[in-house]
Amino acid sequence: MKTYIFDKLPDGREVTAYEIGSETLGATILNYGGIIQKLLYKGTDIIGGYDKIEGYLVSDGYQGALIGRYANRIRGAKFTLNGVEYRLAANEEARGNHLHGGMEGYDKKFWAVEGKTDCDGEHLVLTLTDPDGNENYPGTVSVRVTYSVCGADFSIRYEAVSDKDTPFNMTNHAYLNMNGIAGDTIYNETLMINADEMSKVDENLIPVAKVPVEGTPFDFRTPKLLSRELMFCDDEQMQKGQGLDHNFYISADEATLYQGKKLAKAAVYTGALGALTLYTDKPCVQFYAANFMEGAYPFKGGLVRRRNGALCLETQFAPDGPNRGEAILRAGDKYDYTALFRFDD
Ligand code: GAL
Repeated sequence: MKTYIFDKLPDGREVTAYEIGSETLGATILNYGGIIQKLLYKGTDIIGGYDKIEGYLVSDGYQGALIGRYANRIRGAKFTLNGVEYRLAANEEARGNHLHGGMEGYDKKFWAVEGKTDCDGEHLVLTLTDPDGNENYPGTVSVRVTYSVCGADFSIRYEAVSDKDTPFNMTNHAYLNMNGIAGDTIYNETLMINADEMSKVDENLIPVAKVPVEGTPFDFRTPKLLSRELMFCDDEQMQKGQGLDHNFYISADEATLYQGKKLAKAAVYTGALGALTLYTDKPCVQFYAANFMEGAYPFKGGLVRRRNGALCLETQFAPDGPNRGEAILRAGDKYDYTALFRFDD
């Protein structure tokens, strides 16, 4: 494993980069935000990100970062748990929502990092203590994330234990492009999402109902072209999301065994470089087509950031879970979920 100083934060703190990999896949991870800064598949970088830490600070896209304590939205930036109302930062101001953990989510934390190599490949273990009351959430949570590369498999395992009941829902916000991140938009790529149902959202992107995908533009049960026409189609839900930005309930009909766990096949994403299959034991995945990925600050190597220039497949519990009594990590219980990105070899 190679490590080097990636950059410095404006306050002088050093950000370190760690490289793990195999012949097929190479990942560069930062201790700041647990960010996947580079993901080389057969030598081509397929992930959005920046050359300098400044890019991650000025952009609000959570590029490649770990997301927590609660990924996605919490309506009205509040929830009630065990009879107590908790008020969170409404950092998605225009919609009044709490988004991706608040003002200083896990994407902005320094993580302790330890690397190891064994017969199952190369691993990077990142740990964080998220204190009681941080971002107004209850309970001190000990969080552990393991990034692994083994052959053509890239996985992220999220583990946590809390000393009080708390909402908990982690993901990673990787923007992937299977044409290569320097390649074209996703319009000539295909996606299959193994989901019969999705969350219908209101104008603030908060789920209001679980509905069948059948007969809608959200039916991805067989591989579908991610065409421009689809992204901009005249559909009420598509317009609410300003494009594809929706939660899908994964059907658990096909599975694989990985690191001793049964993971369901959630999606297959295919571009010029090949196919990527996503497996997880989380119940849902957010498919976000990088609808807001625009801005003056360039990506790595001066690349222009373009709407639909990549996509995110964020494994998760459904958005706004705490307001439906879902996605609560009980004191002393073990949180343990995995996302496996399995590439063609
Ligand atoms: C996604 C979310 C989008 C947007 C994005 C960050 O997870 O679904 O609506 O907020 O994060 O730019």
